[in-house]
Amino acid sequence: MNPRLLLFVCLLSLASVRGQVSYSIPEEMPKGSLVGNIAQDLGLELKRLISGKAKIYSRSSGEYVELNRERGVLLVKERIDREALCAETALCALHFQIILENPMEHYTVNIQITDINDNAPAFEKTTVEFRISESTIISSKFVLATAEDLDVEKNAVQKYELKPTNNFALNLQNNPDGTKNVEMVLQKPLDREKEEQISLVLTAVDGGEPQMSGTMMIVVTVLDANDNAPVFTQQTYKATVTENSPKGTIVAAVTASDADQGSNSRITYSITNRGGSLRHLFEINKENGKMIVNGNIDYEKSKSFQISIGATDDGGLTDSCKLFVDVLDVNDNEPEINIMSKSNIIPEDSKLNTVVTMIHVEDLDSGDNGKVQCFMNENMPFMLKSSINNFYSLMTDSELDRETASEYNITVTCSDEGVPSLSSSVTLTLQISDVNDNAPVFERSSYEAYIVENNTPGVSIFTVKATDADWKQNARVSYILEDSSVNGVPVSSYVSVSADSGVIHAVRSFDYEQIKDFRFCVKAQDGGSPPLSSNVSVNIQIQDQNDNPPQVLYPVQTAGSVVAEMVPRSADVGYLVTKVVAVDVDSGQNAWLSYKLQKATDRALFEVGSQNGEIRTVRQVTEKDLLKQRLTVIVEDNGQPSRSATVIVNVAVADSFPEVLSEFSDFPHDKDYNDNLTFYLVLALAVVSFLFITCLVVIISVKIYRWRQSRILYHSSLPVIPYYPPRYSDTLGTGTLPHTYNYEVCRTTDSRKSDCKFGRAGSQNVLIMDPSSTGTMQRMQSEKSILDEPDSPLEVSCYR
Ligand SMILES: *[C@@H]1O[C@H](CO)[C@@H](O)[C@H](O)[C@H]1NC(C)=O
Ligand SMILES: *[C@@H]1O[C@H](CO)[C@@H](O)[C@H](O)[C@H]1NC(C)=O
Repeated sequence: MNPRLLLFVCLLSLASVRGQVSYSIPEEMPKGSLVGNIAQDLGLELKRLISGKAKIYSRSSGEYVELNRERGVLLVKERIDREALCAETALCALHFQIILENPMEHYTVNIQITDINDNAPAFEKTTVEFRISESTIISSKFVLATAEDLDVEKNAVQKYELKPTNNFALNLQNNPDGTKNVEMVLQKPLDREKEEQISLVLTAVDGGEPQMSGTMMIVVTVLDANDNAPVFTQQTYKATVTENSPKGTIVAAVTASDADQGSNSRITYSITNRGGSLRHLFEINKENGKMIVNGNIDYEKSKSFQISIGATDDGGLTDSCKLFVDVLDVNDNEPEINIMSKSNIIPEDSKLNTVVTMIHVEDLDSGDNGKVQCFMNENMPFMLKSSINNFYSLMTDSELDRETASEYNITVTCSDEGVPSLSSSVTLTLQISDVNDNAPVFERSSYEAYIVENNTPGVSIFTVKATDADWKQNARVSYILEDSSVNGVPVSSYVSVSADSGVIHAVRSFDYEQIKDFRFCVKAQDGGSPPLSSNVSVNIQIQDQNDNPPQVLYPVQTAGSVVAEMVPRSADVGYLVTKVVAVDVDSGQNAWLSYKLQKATDRALFEVGSQNGEIRTVRQVTEKDLLKQRLTVIVEDNGQPSRSATVIVNVAVADSFPEVLSEFSDFPHDKDYNDNLTFYLVLALAVVSFLFITCLVVIISVKIYRWRQSRILYHSSLPVIPYYPPRYSDTLGTGTLPHTYNYEVCRTTDSRKSDCKFGRAGSQNVLIMDPSSTGTMQRMQSEKSILDEPDSPLEVSCYR
């Protein structure tokens, strides 16, 4: 606004006041600016002003305005700052007097200084800070500093503005004294998590022309409040843990976050479903949420866990989540074998598939770790049969034999299929009880025993023995003599058997010459029920004793008569005079006869063949030789001690029978018979013929009998027959007894044993002396005789 125009307005308003002039000027006019035409306004002439030496009188404010007398105007002398002059006073004026001399006059001049908008509103601080918690409630007020404007009235602060207005609104309150209170009111909640710092600008505006303003920064720091609860990253977590994991094994880690700050976001983790077994098994790290194993986790007790986990911030806000932990099985349980029922003893005749033991196997592990297979040790007559649900039956699968194995240790081993596999085993001891399934068995298939004849009755011959593989009573053997007959006599009259010991006793005294051997059966019977038995054939051979002396068959010794052999005087050396024939009913060595010349009239003339008993001349007979020769021949057997017989052989050395007759009548001790010489000679011839025929008949009849006997295979007792020494042979065919004999030959192959061989009638036998074996005769042309066979059926079986 033009100051001149303002001045003019002022003058008009003051025109009516006499002696007093008022002006109004705006402040801050430049030096020399016109304030007012004082001369004119006061109605004074310029001359008067000069003559009156008009001057300004002021006590204080004289320096701002000067009086120009020549022109009669008041001019601005100093810059007038209303604010400096009057501060806040709205009406600001300068008061002074114009003093004139000659005459002394004074006029009052008031110069009102009007305000111009030369000051902007200003805040004391350019920035203020607030720290406001985000939890502060709405319509909370925050007092702001007001702005100062040195100008007054409408140039002073007229209004305030706050920007932005998102959270806060401005509230102005007029005080009674006209001042204003500026407040900031929270209108919308603060959220530190969104905006941690809010910058606002408060602007104060005055009403001047042009308008001026001042600003202040308001920085609001939003303080955290615990308005956010912790939040888990997942509502449920899943984890696995193997059983038996050591303490401290990390199972899982849970995480929660809290949007707050500082302690409000400090999270503490905890297991909330405390109680039960869980308390001891797991532990959570309070700070980092790691779940660790704190105890022994046993799959067999629980296969999974459900753990509730809480997260709490320091302000007490919480969240929770669940952790599902699956336990993984480890093969830590060995199979458990339970014996449900069991027999300790079974009889050996148990049927196939007899169940001996029932077993149940259990493995607490699961899956393959709990799959169990059972098997038993091999080479046993048992098998393990599995049925459903790990039940097994141990049963027999082949026949049992207590005699082979009376006890079994059956080891059942069960192992699971885990890796590595665990196993356990149990050993069952099973006894096999005896059943009488074994008959007594004799030690030999047949027995052969020997007893020397003339034994004392009751003597023990030998012992049969049978064993029984069974047990105790089933194995107790008793011996029984089986009934049979020997030569029509019960065998019990020959032998007896001791039931307990199997000793065979002779009941009577045996005579080899009557019975050479016999056969019977002994039964062995065990004590089982029913009893089992077996029998054995026993062959008793009676051995010969030299209890018979040789018997001289020829020449016949007759009392009172003399038989003489004739030797012609022309006989050559070696002429066979006669042959002494003797037999011995014993056998073998005991019947092996030898002949010796014991006494002779002329020892140089005759000799006796020691083997064959042939009496031969040893030199040419001479005329000088006596007619009557008397020889004493002793026949000895080879027994120990040997027995003997003597025979007297009379020999007549003569060419004619009458000569003999005449000579023999001279035998001194035959005197009495001389008269009857002819009769005796005839008798002697008859006797010789009879003897020959008798021998022939006897031998033939014996042969026929033998032949019949061999046809019916009867062997045990041979009739007593005369024995003819083997040397009694007519091999040369030059003897005086040129007869062909069919006779029995008993040969001795062993001194203790004698075998008989029977020649068949009419067979051509050639007997040869074998000097290499004492008294052994070898049969060159062997004849068939079943008795000669060592293993004839007769010896094997007891009964025909
Ligand atoms: C069975 O075992 C027992 C004791 O372990 C032992 O005395 C016995 O000889 C064994 N039997 C067999 C047939 O191995
Ligand atoms: C034993 O004797 C009986 C008759 O008593 C007979 O049946 C059985 O075959 C005989 N056993 C033997 C081994 O000889």
